[in-house]
Amino acid sequence: MKKIAIFASGSGSNAENIIRFFENDPRNRVSLVLCNKPDAYVLERAKRLGVPALVFNREQFYHSDLILDRLKAEAVDLIVLAGFLWKVPANLLAAYPDRIINIHPALLPKFGGKGMYGEHVHEAVIAAGEKESGITIHHVNDRYDEGAAIFQATCPVLPDDTPDTLAAKVHALEYAHFPRVIKEFADSLPE
Ligand code: GAR
Repeated sequence: MKKIAIFASGSGSNAENIIRFFENDPRNRVSLVLCNKPDAYVLERAKRLGVPALVFNREQFYHSDLILDRLKAEAVDLIVLAGFLWKVPANLLAAYPDRIINIHPALLPKFGGKGMYGEHVHEAVIAAGEKESGITIHHVNDRYDEGAAIFQATCPVLPDDTPDTLAAKVHALEYAHFPRVIKEFADSLPE
């Protein structure tokens, strides 16, 4: 059984969707949720779903081994960022080489980088007059949103779309594809 850890900073609707998906998978399980915001709704979801959670602050994330030690103690095999907004530090990248993946709510390499998250992305896509947006699932490296792409899916941006209506379309793509792509990735890793 491979163990998946999810990092999330906010609502956690993707985290919940992923946790539920793997409840029925004999090969993989979400065993830990990690969150940098004590009041994030993802923590309620994790509690309700019976998944342990670890809350941490910036100092612990960037200047201690608290998180790495917990991941090792739980024998976590891969890490999924689902709405997690901090850059991943070198100690985690080194401990999980090519085993950390992120979802971004646009078609990278456009509309990525620091500060490009959630509604800011959708506002930028609409402001740029794009005809298409979507999701990018990609490997994580030491630069925001620049790791190699694993999967993309697209949706149209219509003239009357607002950041909210575009977010809803992008979320639908996330829910439809992210768990399956994580599973394919997890199943491809050596035991
Ligand atoms: C998702 O749309 C995800 O793609 C995005 O945050 C949202 C989290 O929603 N991630 C980023 O913008 C990363 N740069 P959720 O908390 O409901 O899953």
